[in-house]
Amino acid sequence: MSIREGRFDEDLDPAILALSQSISFDRRLGGDDVEGSLAHAEMLHVADLLSAAEWEAIRRGLEEIREELERGTFPFDERAEDIHMNVEKRLAEKIGAAAGKLHTARSRNDQVALDLRLFVRRATREVKDGIRALAAALIEKAERHAELVLPAYTHLQRAQPVLLAHHLLAHVEMLLRDLGRFADAADRADECPLGSGACTGTGLPIDREFVRRKLGFARLTANSLDAVADRDFVLEFEAAAAILAVHLSRLAEEIVLWSTAEFGFVRLPDSVATGSSMMPQKKNPDGAELVRGKSGRIVGHLVGLLTVMKGLPLSYNRDLQEDKEGLFDTFDTLALSLAAIRSTVEAMEPDAARMRAAALDPASMTTATDLAESMVARGVPFREAHRQVGALVRRALGEGKSLGEVAGPDAPAAGDVDAGIARKDLPGGTAPSRVRAAIAAARARLAAEKGDEPRTAEPDRA
Ligand code: ARG
Repeated sequence: MSIREGRFDEDLDPAILALSQSISFDRRLGGDDVEGSLAHAEMLHVADLLSAAEWEAIRRGLEEIREELERGTFPFDERAEDIHMNVEKRLAEKIGAAAGKLHTARSRNDQVALDLRLFVRRATREVKDGIRALAAALIEKAERHAELVLPAYTHLQRAQPVLLAHHLLAHVEMLLRDLGRFADAADRADECPLGSGACTGTGLPIDREFVRRKLGFARLTANSLDAVADRDFVLEFEAAAAILAVHLSRLAEEIVLWSTAEFGFVRLPDSVATGSSMMPQKKNPDGAELVRGKSGRIVGHLVGLLTVMKGLPLSYNRDLQEDKEGLFDTFDTLALSLAAIRSTVEAMEPDAARMRAAALDPASMTTATDLAESMVARGVPFREAHRQVGALVRRALGEGKSLGEVAGPDAPAAGDVDAGIARKDLPGGTAPSRVRAAIAAARARLAAEKGDEPRTAEPDRA
């Protein structure tokens, strides 16, 4: 049974078939499609639109199909276009005429909207697990190397001394916000579109609430046209993904920089480094570089789908089929990037001496602000202190001396990076006691961001 049988005389042009098939990629939604169909068919039975025998046959057939999909033995057929028609066709092969009743009160338009929401729900859980694991690895590193000092940078110029732990926790903050973004997006996506039909619902007496409960959604979509036309739940996932990918890229970039001979702040063990085909001595941070590089395609998928959506009239348009490959690739790329950067963070070995030497380097004078602030504490207006320290910096550079040497013994702030760090004793500051508290707080916030329990509603469908 093909959907062309009633209305069409001729076979579809091969180029149009090749263009319009989505089975080569939406086969990935097979499990979601079966899950949605089981809930829909049970509802049809409860609503007296399927007999007990028909529901039983459909249930058995769909469960066999689920097994075939899981085992990789499902016979996909490109002529059946997409996963929805493939499943229905296979069901007909298995159970005969009763299969023709499964699509009662349903369109592929609300069906695909459902399948995609189920996918995004699963993908969001996995991405959040990956973010938590990476954040935990950063917190662990921060705690293990809590006393290490390095320069903080602005404009990639040495600025002020800071604790390595404080620096690592900056990345944790970004990841905690990423978790929040994915959670917010998941809340808004938590709506069941089934029952919206092709675009205006159905005249048959169905029970949308029943399906919603079965599939564990928080709410029903409120407008049938919106339900089949909207993909902003995909856009939100991709937007959160793009921001996360940019965060991972910035972390990766620092690992690339820090592992150079010029910085030498971290050593990358062989497990996370790669070689050169020509230069025998080379050891390269390709993993971190690729995490940085992969962010490009993730940002691209967001822009791609925004561009697909921008001119579409309501409601469903076939253009929407273009939502899938970018979404799948976004998820796969993110999952891989999260795992790779986490391995790199776990493996990297900080070089305490190199970091400290960079913070203490006489030519960098990273304590200049601390010296100015020590003068402010004695009543000198800040602008005047800034001028006086600036003059000292100029003298030190001219005479090839350190700031401490030209400032003299009654200005100890000029020579003591640890005292400067300890004085940043304010909320959000890098004083050791503040950083210790921040490590504990970050851990607690991560634990409070608890795992998402799978919300398949009713216990009878374990
Ligand atoms: N493969 C289609 C998609 O991904 C399914 C919906 C097709 N609906 C239709 N009326 N042609 O969007």
